[in-house]
Amino acid sequence: MAESLGVAVIGAGMAGKAHAAAYRTASTLYSPVLPGIRLVSIGDVNAEFGSLAARRFGYSRHDTSWQAIAEADDIDVVSVVIANSLHREVVEGLLAAGKHVLCEKPLSDSLDDARAMAEAARNAASIARIGFTFRRTPGIAYIRDLIRTGVLGNVLHFSGRYWTDYGFSPSAPMSWRYKGGPGSGALADVGSHLAYVSEFLCGDIKSINGGRLSTVIGKRPVPLGAVMGHDHAAVSDTFEAVENDDYAAFSAEFENGAGSFEVSRVAAGHANSLQFEVFCENGAAKFDQRRPSEIQLFLNDGSGTANGYRQVILGPGHPYITGGLAMDAPEVGFGQNDAFGYQARAFLEEVAGLSEADSLPRCATFDEGVRNMELLGAVTESALGDGKKVTL
Ligand SMILES: NC(=O)c1ccc[n+]([C@@H]2O[C@H](COP(=O)([O-])OP(=O)(O)OC[C@H]3O[C@@H](n4cnc5c(N)ncnc54)[C@H](O)[C@@H]3O)[C@@H](O)[C@H]2O)c1
Repeated sequence: MAESLGVAVIGAGMAGKAHAAAYRTASTLYSPVLPGIRLVSIGDVNAEFGSLAARRFGYSRHDTSWQAIAEADDIDVVSVVIANSLHREVVEGLLAAGKHVLCEKPLSDSLDDARAMAEAARNAASIARIGFTFRRTPGIAYIRDLIRTGVLGNVLHFSGRYWTDYGFSPSAPMSWRYKGGPGSGALADVGSHLAYVSEFLCGDIKSINGGRLSTVIGKRPVPLGAVMGHDHAAVSDTFEAVENDDYAAFSAEFENGAGSFEVSRVAAGHANSLQFEVFCENGAAKFDQRRPSEIQLFLNDGSGTANGYRQVILGPGHPYITGGLAMDAPEVGFGQNDAFGYQARAFLEEVAGLSEADSLPRCATFDEGVRNMELLGAVTESALGDGKKVTL
């Protein structure tokens, strides 16, 4: 095992800060088997964002170009956390320089670019993974275990939604999220997570139908300065056209079972609301990201009178949490930032060369990132074809 690993994060925005914090906490989770983690650099073209994040999260320096990070001898591991359309150039450059890369979802803004990135990953000497963070969510991982072990049993029906509201106000500033073709809006931004979670739980989707994409706010004001994440920065009087979907819906046929999906960035009052119910042969489970340390579970006892969910509080004994809490006790709570920590930990364990048996489940591969984009592409094709059925 390497004595130490040098880490950098490219992008100091909303999710970049979550990666920066996650590499700090990764070695504090579980027993201390990781090599020393050196927090080396935050890279951001916005020097102020980069500098602030480096100081806040304890990184030694900040850089303003990804090339500086690619060329740095003291950096081994890099998270790429910038706009989707920028992923390919940066990831390919980093892999060519021998860096291990954890890239944010969706893999890219185009299927062709995503496929090229997967090819680059296959040919690279280093490791490339994609950050589908929700697979690290203890409640979701636990429901998957209940399905796989037969407690819940085969999935019959999945109903999921990922409602957000960062765009519900017409005065929310224009940003990279509103640019790109059909399907690159809410569908790519949060639908990528929901689609991934559905296959993580239920297995492969074989076809999509009833695809629908809607842009309900057609133009947005140009901000006066840099916008980070979903911030409502001060705006000018100039407006630009929104190029992609505020809302998307579709139905899916899994290899086993049926599914319905709805995603939005204009669901006022639902800032970050990934919710689903999964109905199975032996019962059902329900998850709500706003209450991440619990799930609702219904197990059919055969009496015919046992309908209804009961609350299960997650804690020591459930995936990721066992041995992973600083205060290792029931009902202390955890949330979405913790999932970034589990993800960083899993990636560092793989880079450090720990055997799979001694590691958290590996991060998803770029091929899984391509699969996810094929799914979103099928939804877009269905939507552009008046909801036609598209087989994967
Ligand atoms: N896993 C999750 O839960 C999650 C959550 C949010 C975002 N994301 C993903 O993370 C990525 C970034 O999203 P965000 O919300 O953090 O974006 P953001 O707009 O908040 O931040 C992007 C940052 O990248 C910087 N930047 C722009 N061009 C750059 C370049 N060429 N080199 C270096 N830095 C550059 C910007 O200055 C900005 O600080 C996206 O792929 C998004 O889908 C994932």
